[in-house]
Amino acid sequence: MKTSPKNIKGVMEDRLPKKVVQALKAAGEVAEGMNYSAYLVGGLVRDLLLGVENLDVDITVEGEGIAFAEKLAQRLSGRVKGITRFGTAIVTLRGGFKIDVATARREYYERPAALPTVQKSSIREDQFRRDFTINAMAIKLNPGEFGKLIDFFAGERDLKRGVVRALHKKSFLDDPTRIFRAVRFSERYQFKIDEGTKDLIKQATNLAMFDELTIERVRDELVLILSEENPARAIKKMAELHELKFIHPRIKLNKQLRKLLGNLEEVLSWFRSSFPKEKPSPWLIYFSALLRGLTLKEARAACQRFHLSRKDEEKVIKGKEGVSRKLRELGKEKPRPSQIYLQLESLPLESLLVVMARASRIVRERISLYLRELRRARLKVTGDDLKELGLRPGPKFAELLKKTLIAKLDGSLKTKEDELNYVKMNISRMRR
Ligand code: CTP
Repeated sequence: MKTSPKNIKGVMEDRLPKKVVQALKAAGEVAEGMNYSAYLVGGLVRDLLLGVENLDVDITVEGEGIAFAEKLAQRLSGRVKGITRFGTAIVTLRGGFKIDVATARREYYERPAALPTVQKSSIREDQFRRDFTINAMAIKLNPGEFGKLIDFFAGERDLKRGVVRALHKKSFLDDPTRIFRAVRFSERYQFKIDEGTKDLIKQATNLAMFDELTIERVRDELVLILSEENPARAIKKMAELHELKFIHPRIKLNKQLRKLLGNLEEVLSWFRSSFPKEKPSPWLIYFSALLRGLTLKEARAACQRFHLSRKDEEKVIKGKEGVSRKLRELGKEKPRPSQIYLQLESLPLESLLVVMARASRIVRERISLYLRELRRARLKVTGDDLKELGLRPGPKFAELLKKTLIAKLDGSLKTKEDELNYVKMNISRMRR
């Protein structure tokens, strides 16, 4: 392990916005004045070398991180926020630009997956506690050495070869979220996961422990993976590395799930091109797909274990509950538009897209009709019109409006007058 003498100041100046380079130079000068060393670390270093845009500035200092953050904020007329007992803080600049500051530290874990206990240390130790070699490079910021690439673990070589490699054997036990991060980076950059690292992941899937805090962080990682460009491929990779059992022991990448994933890709690409303004959460859709083989009760338990919001849990459940029956109804010969509407109206968009991915070609067309037209159908008569006709708001009121909408969907009411006449006819029937 040697320190690379390479200097990438030129790359920084070429690829980063001027404002960021100036802030980094200022950080180096502030550190120098305090007799500290400051380094740019983490994802930005990796992406800078890859030529990928990233503006998440993480600075680690050998010294007192918080005192440094305060001086840096003064120098750049910014503010310090979010100070933690781990020696981290955020410097926010005018215009909302943020710099994350940390104190170089060595974390040791009293038990696997526990909150780290922090000790101040050198940049080398700080980098050694990180997840992968490609994320464990630093760039020195002090004047005179500005731009010097610090690469103790051959991260640059792995970047060039396209390899995700853990830094040490205990990495995944220290932090089980890394089991998913490996897949995320490998997917994002189309990198291979090093064979030894794959073995460590598989071992960790049997040994790693999840306390409540870790579960939430695992959920956050899952959300990120399933929000990257090709979630289906990521899921296949997770399956190869035995990671799916972390989500639920009964999730298997079997024929049914493979087919669903393939169909989802088609359905989502159709949906995105047809409705570019609507943004259903892809992660929730793929998370629902993963739970396809579970019972409703198991799916609910999985959602609760990952502390999904109530709303998200409902979306998952609605993409499962009674779906076979709905698909049967929708598959019947020549359904009326209102029949299609009534089967689908209660489904949130994400659930609807999962249902669509499970549907036959003909049913998909019917769902597509719902998405393109039926769900947007609105009456011209309003609640006020009904009040003028002497009706008081209440369940009957809503029932009547719905009945009118159904008649409209099926094409028998064209104008507002048609609607009003229909309403009046029904009122007199109700009164009879
Ligand atoms: N890190 C780690 N283990 C984790 C999470 C983060 O070692 N479980 C380290 C890595 O060095 C990473 C840095 O903290 O580069 C910043 O973490 P994060 O912002 O999550 O990742 P990025 O690498 O910046 O990736 P992204 O581009 O997805 O933000």
